[in-house]
Amino acid sequence: MKLWQGRFDAPEAADADAFNESLSFDKQLWRADITASVAHATMLGRCGILTEEEADTICAGLKGIYSDIENGTLAVEGQEDIHSFVESELVARIGQTGKKLHTARSRNDQVATDLRLYARDAADSAVSLLKALINTLLARAKETVRYIMPGFTHLRKAQPINCAQYFNAYSEMFLRDLDRFHALRERMNVMPLGSAALAGTSWPIDREITRSLLGFDAVSQNSLDAVSDRDFVAEYLFSASLVMAHLSRLCEDTILYTSDEFGYWEIPDAYSTGSSIMPQKKNPDIPELVRGKTGRVYGHLMGVLTMIKGIPLAYNKDLQEDKEPFFDAQRTMESCLSIYTALLAKLTFNVNRMYDAAGEGYSTATDVADYLAKRGVPFRDAHAVTGKIVRYCIENGKTLPSLTLEEFRAASPVFEADVLQAVTARASAEGRNSVGGSSAAAAKAGIVSIRKRLKQY
Ligand code: ARG
Repeated sequence: MKLWQGRFDAPEAADADAFNESLSFDKQLWRADITASVAHATMLGRCGILTEEEADTICAGLKGIYSDIENGTLAVEGQEDIHSFVESELVARIGQTGKKLHTARSRNDQVATDLRLYARDAADSAVSLLKALINTLLARAKETVRYIMPGFTHLRKAQPINCAQYFNAYSEMFLRDLDRFHALRERMNVMPLGSAALAGTSWPIDREITRSLLGFDAVSQNSLDAVSDRDFVAEYLFSASLVMAHLSRLCEDTILYTSDEFGYWEIPDAYSTGSSIMPQKKNPDIPELVRGKTGRVYGHLMGVLTMIKGIPLAYNKDLQEDKEPFFDAQRTMESCLSIYTALLAKLTFNVNRMYDAAGEGYSTATDVADYLAKRGVPFRDAHAVTGKIVRYCIENGKTLPSLTLEEFRAASPVFEADVLQAVTARASAEGRNSVGGSSAAAAKAGIVSIRKRLKQY
């Protein structure tokens, strides 16, 4: 029996019912739905719309449903959506009084409220998973602050960098993500309940009571907007998409750096997979899957943005399509954050291989040019002289650190013996002591700064 059956002669066709239902996925909102209903009934009682006794009976019934679902003795099934399920179960348990719960309320303000309660928790959980990831990045940065690795641009060796600086770069990205979820939580913590179907209600409700019971910061100021606003879903999906973008980049680096060709890092066996045919293979399936799942989260963002763009005021059933993308994006992002955090904690480093690679590819050529420029040669000329030295190395199969002082001086008399030290990968990285640069001191300052900002959340 539908909540809305009264007006109809015939029951809904089975195929229409199956198409229309949302219980199969919105049952995920059961906690939020019951919590909001308890607050609503309490408010109805305090305002004298229901007697105190009726309100108490309803709340006790709802709490019984909550604990029965929680402990697995009540299966959530057999109704159109979670709101119908809870209400009909309540009526089955407490009888006629249960039918008064829906006074001064519509499923439109109800679902909008439920979803905000749910999204609030989802934002909190994103914040705590991001914190865990950043803490792991910080721990790895602290351990690797003496390690030098190649820094790339265009995926060609560019300049030696500090390994801690590398991890700090990702902490910066994830800190921005964390801030986005934090801000989104504050922005969406506004209560639609009391907007009813679209126009508000003629019942003498007190929205302040439900607001404070449910921990919202404010009540919505326009009932038409409140029942049809899903901006917070789109914002969650956008924030999740950027998390996935950042994770995907980190995974791409992980896949490259752990390959035989690079050989900088090692994924532990426990987080690697093998091949059914090639016995020698150790594959990076986990970072590949994270990279692959990124597209799925982006897809959900595009789906929801497109779904909301043509909705005439106020509520339309299209909005039911907000849930599956939201839930799937949440599940996907949360599992990716957890698994990558676990893998990152166990990554090992081939310190010598990273150091040697950092010195290859004439990666300290900028240091040679800077060496000359710091001794009065205009940078453009210093660049040209250094270009010639690199050319000499290429033609004679040499590296910059393997050149003798005589070879340097053949290119410019400005070179002195200290150039031989200046072209090592460590000196190169250590020399960049600007804020946020690749020196160990700058990387350590980066760790301190990230830790400090992280503490604010
Ligand atoms: N399942 C619906 C949704 O998710 C609940 C609201 C139904 N409202 C309505 N007017 N049919 O949007």
